Amino acid sequence: MGEIRLFRADEMEDLVETLNTEFHNDFGCVLLIESPLSEKQTSVLGQHPGVICLATGFAWRGRFPSYVLGYVENAGDKNQLLWTLESARRFLDLRHENQQLRFRYQVEGEKLDSILSSALELSEERDPVKLCDKILSNLRRQVRAEGASLYIADLEKNELKFTHVQNERVKVPFQSFTLPIDENSMAGACASRRKSIHVPDVRAIPKSESFKFNDSFDKKVGYTTRSILCIPLLKSKGDLVGVVQLINSKRESTFTEEDIEIGKVLAAPIASSLETALLYKDIENLFEGFVKASVTAIESRDPTTSGHSERVADYSVNLAKVITLSTAKEFAPIHFNEQSLKELRYASLLHDFGKIGVPEAILQKEKKLYPDELESILGRAKLIKLGHPSIAKEIDQFIELVLRFNEPTVTSKDPGSELKKFMDLHYEVLGEDIHLLKQDEMNKLALSKGSLTVDDRRMIESHVEHTYKFLQQIPWTRELKRVAPIAHSHHEKLDGTGYPQGLKGNEIPVESQIMAIADIYDALTAPDRPYKKSVAAAKALEILMEDAVKGKLNRELVRLFIDQKAYLI
Ligand SMILES: [Fe+2]
Ligand SMILES: [Fe+2]
Repeated sequence: MGEIRLFRADEMEDLVETLNTEFHNDFGCVLLIESPLSEKQTSVLGQHPGVICLATGFAWRGRFPSYVLGYVENAGDKNQLLWTLESARRFLDLRHENQQLRFRYQVEGEKLDSILSSALELSEERDPVKLCDKILSNLRRQVRAEGASLYIADLEKNELKFTHVQNERVKVPFQSFTLPIDENSMAGACASRRKSIHVPDVRAIPKSESFKFNDSFDKKVGYTTRSILCIPLLKSKGDLVGVVQLINSKRESTFTEEDIEIGKVLAAPIASSLETALLYKDIENLFEGFVKASVTAIESRDPTTSGHSERVADYSVNLAKVITLSTAKEFAPIHFNEQSLKELRYASLLHDFGKIGVPEAILQKEKKLYPDELESILGRAKLIKLGHPSIAKEIDQFIELVLRFNEPTVTSKDPGSELKKFMDLHYEVLGEDIHLLKQDEMNKLALSKGSLTVDDRRMIESHVEHTYKFLQQIPWTRELKRVAPIAHSHHEKLDGTGYPQGLKGNEIPVESQIMAIADIYDALTAPDRPYKKSVAAAKALEILMEDAVKGKLNRELVRLFIDQKAYLI
């Protein structure tokens, strides 16, 4: 308490004004009152904790309001007054201590909340790069550090990899490097000892320490490192995941005991989050590698379709992104995030994987007849021509027709009509009855569109079921669990004419509806194949719109695909 002033009961008139004008400071003041204060006076008194209010006189009848800290019967008695003042001061000290404790408890409660929310935020981040950034930001915020670096431990190689850096004062050019886990560097020693190292002044590291301060960073970026706090990131069982180095406390000249404690408290959840994120990334890389290997396997079966899966994935993801950005009401319920885009991408990359179960001869069939079937017809024709020279001209005409009809051209007239007359012809050659053209050969040559027979088509269409069976066996993560059903429906049509399930409208997942558009667009525009000419982009978009008008493809999605140029990759 500072200066003490005595107020006597006869000065009560001026109490409020005096308290207001004179005691807006830390000085103490003793107020002697002979009767309780008015409500207004009590409220003014409440604003001045330095005022010791003592009751005096005989008007109190044994009950004192809470602002009265003591009773002095005779204020003129100096000893009595001092003794009462001493007890009042002790009471005030206790009250002050109590308030400080309360304040500290409140601050620590808030700090604890902040530490817990930091730990929670970190545990929810799966992306290692974002996580490293959050780890350093959170730790720097908690201990008020200017800069921080993160090292990830590779225990097999016994080294630390410099992974991330932050500094709010200088721009730090990031360049990764490794440090051995040994006593020769501060971070290495922290990892080796599995203990925090606090260097309050980097220019006064005790000689007994194994490491020295490396000032190359300071020189390079024009910075002055003063203090460093190195914290090992240890999991609950003590396994080392990495090291964090905090640089220059912003609050004090160096880091405090509380900072070190906070670092230790946060180290375990950070280590677990970091390990989980790295593991998650490993699994993702594993999946990515597996998907890429699968795509290579599919496309090596039919090199002419090379790049199809990647392009379908790119078109599909493009379309999904523009759907998410669209403000049109029909797309309002559809939203793709990072995970669902990845799910769509994997489903697209693997949608044709089942082609692995379709014979290569069918996948690569260029003509209506397989090469050995054509050879067989031509061989018989030549044999008949040799045995019956008188009909050589007809046989030549027959051969010319077979070669012509073997081409998978699209025709509106019945291609079988010209060939039909050769169907019943059979000749004896070297004692053997030889048919010029057999029924199944005739059926193949009579195909009016493409090169595939009904059986060939069925075999090719079976790729969807093969894809589904294959993808279903993969233990996809929760975020990717719909890869198999999405891929399963990529040949379904809104009007129910698709395969293999004949689903209709909303029964078809929207991702599969997207993929169907991408698949058809790429099949049309892909570089020339031996059996199929490439179609110009504008024509392909026209065909997509025609399919949409016929009710086969989602009209809104096709329109968005065209309007937002999702086909540009
Ligand atoms: Fe397909
Ligand atoms: Fe496809």
